[in-house]
Amino acid sequence: MKRVLICFLALCAAAAAQDKVVGGPYVVNATGRSATVGWIVQVGEAKAGVDLAKPTHVAPVLESRKVSFTGLPAGQTINYDVLGGSEEGKGSFKTPPAAGTPFEAVVFGDTRTRHDLHRKVIAAIMEKSQAEVAIHTGDLVSDGFDTAQWPLFFDIERPLLKKMAFFPVLGNHERGNYKYYDFFEVQSPYYSFNWGDAHFVILNSDVGNVAMSADSRSKFWDEQTRWLEEDLARSQKASFRIVVMHHPPFTATASRQGGGGNVFARGLIPLFEKYKVKFVFNGHDHNYQHHEWMGVHYVVTGGGGAPLYPVTGAMEGITKKVVSTEHFVRLKVTPTSAAVEAIALDGTILDAFELKP
Ligand SMILES: [Fe+2]
Repeated sequence: MKRVLICFLALCAAAAAQDKVVGGPYVVNATGRSATVGWIVQVGEAKAGVDLAKPTHVAPVLESRKVSFTGLPAGQTINYDVLGGSEEGKGSFKTPPAAGTPFEAVVFGDTRTRHDLHRKVIAAIMEKSQAEVAIHTGDLVSDGFDTAQWPLFFDIERPLLKKMAFFPVLGNHERGNYKYYDFFEVQSPYYSFNWGDAHFVILNSDVGNVAMSADSRSKFWDEQTRWLEEDLARSQKASFRIVVMHHPPFTATASRQGGGGNVFARGLIPLFEKYKVKFVFNGHDHNYQHHEWMGVHYVVTGGGGAPLYPVTGAMEGITKKVVSTEHFVRLKVTPTSAAVEAIALDGTILDAFELKP
């Protein structure tokens, strides 16, 4: 009997050692009165190599866990515990407030490499903002297909994910991989949500990874554009319409001005003007850029850790500010104003501007 008990305890210990939380908890789809809390568990380890006795590749076997809550009160701080009382399973977030309630968001992106700087960007966000919404402009990891890269992303972003509702945008480095959809419970790569007086629209500009054939890629883009127009038409009562997509329609990084995703993105400019979009946030180029064209402000915030790009292609009459440094963007929305500040790691305000509804 004693031997059976020892074996049972040993098995339990082995299982507990294997089922390690390597991501989250984090909150996604905090829209309306519902939200999903997710976390990633490592359930094993896989090895590969020419000689299995000397594996060259070791990757965690990951499983995503999720729990959804409905009927939550609007504009309230919700505390959660998804792991039975342990500190690592606890966090909080705010549910979206109704129009008329001020809020703060952070927008940042391109966190895929130079992990020490990614960590500093997250630390700066936690120190210098009171945001309840975090929007990542894409390229979360270098290769979304590579299972081993995701635990590091989640480890670095842990402090932020435990306190804010997270809204991801698909970058080209996610490679359209199912893990992006699975981990963040993304039902569609384009979606929208309301938060206070803002209507946010998230688009997928990574057309290259949508499908193998050019015909299918065009079909996807046409469908998304149709949806975008309907969504913007429906949201005309919101004080501020804010679009976020990875590829920038305007870029001052000269070497990137002809990129495929950018060309598609540029095709949406007439819709942004017609439906009075205030801000378009992008990533993809690893720096800070602010352009204004026909009343729409285009902000590139790709300073989350990936190697910095030069800004040598400023456009006369369009470009307002360009800085090649790590940073994040703080967005404060009230019923009467939307203020943007680009903040460097040392707290320097790189750019600041405010728009009226
Ligand atoms: Fe990118």
